[in-house]
Amino acid sequence: MIKIAPSILSADFARLGEEIDSVNCADYIHFDVMDGLFVPNISIGVPVLKSVRKYTEMVIDAHLMIATPLFFAGIFAENGADIVTLHVEAAPEDEIRRAIIEIHNKGKKAGLSVKPKTPASALFPYLEAIDLALVMTVEPGFGGQAFMPDMLPKIAALRSEIENRGLSVELEVDGGICPETARQCVSAGANVLVAGSDIFRASDRAARIRALRGENEE
Ligand code: DX5
Ligand code: ZN
Repeated sequence: MIKIAPSILSADFARLGEEIDSVNCADYIHFDVMDGLFVPNISIGVPVLKSVRKYTEMVIDAHLMIATPLFFAGIFAENGADIVTLHVEAAPEDEIRRAIIEIHNKGKKAGLSVKPKTPASALFPYLEAIDLALVMTVEPGFGGQAFMPDMLPKIAALRSEIENRGLSVELEVDGGICPETARQCVSAGANVLVAGSDIFRASDRAARIRALRGENEE
């Protein structure tokens, strides 16, 4: 089953509740956190997360593009995120492992992400410890960028490693996802698709979400 995670980075923040309502047929709300250090942009953080948590019962998928994942992992887990995804490049292995434990101790799911230049193998040592692997299909930091097709082999490599080990880790992709690139990512083995600009610029967002799931094909 393909899951769709609209990224509210592309939503109108002045009308965030209505924007979330407009995508409530999706599976997750993707919540992009940027600190201006790990990526050259600043987005939203814990105060907005708390408001969104009060507003919706949808699964909140927090993507932490921050330089201090160990400090913040538990804070996001206890303030409403259902899935907390960190970047493997952001901290040494012992800190990443402690952050994953912290998230699990709060009863939430832990994800680990790789930037485009980081190989799939960087996630292999963690696959038994995580619930979700996230392959960035653009350089993190901004919505609306072009999909990087050379990430498809990385998705396939992670899918086969997950299958070979008999794990149930979700495989998410993020960046430049539209119905065409969604199809390519699903063929390569992804099962969770993040999409920001493609969904929020559509007038019929529910139809766009169905198209991303591949449901509109004749
Ligand atoms: C980029 C973010 C993405 C972004 C995707 O750093 O992690 O979640 O919102 O936006 P689109 O779908 O427009 O590429
Ligand atoms: Zn994201």
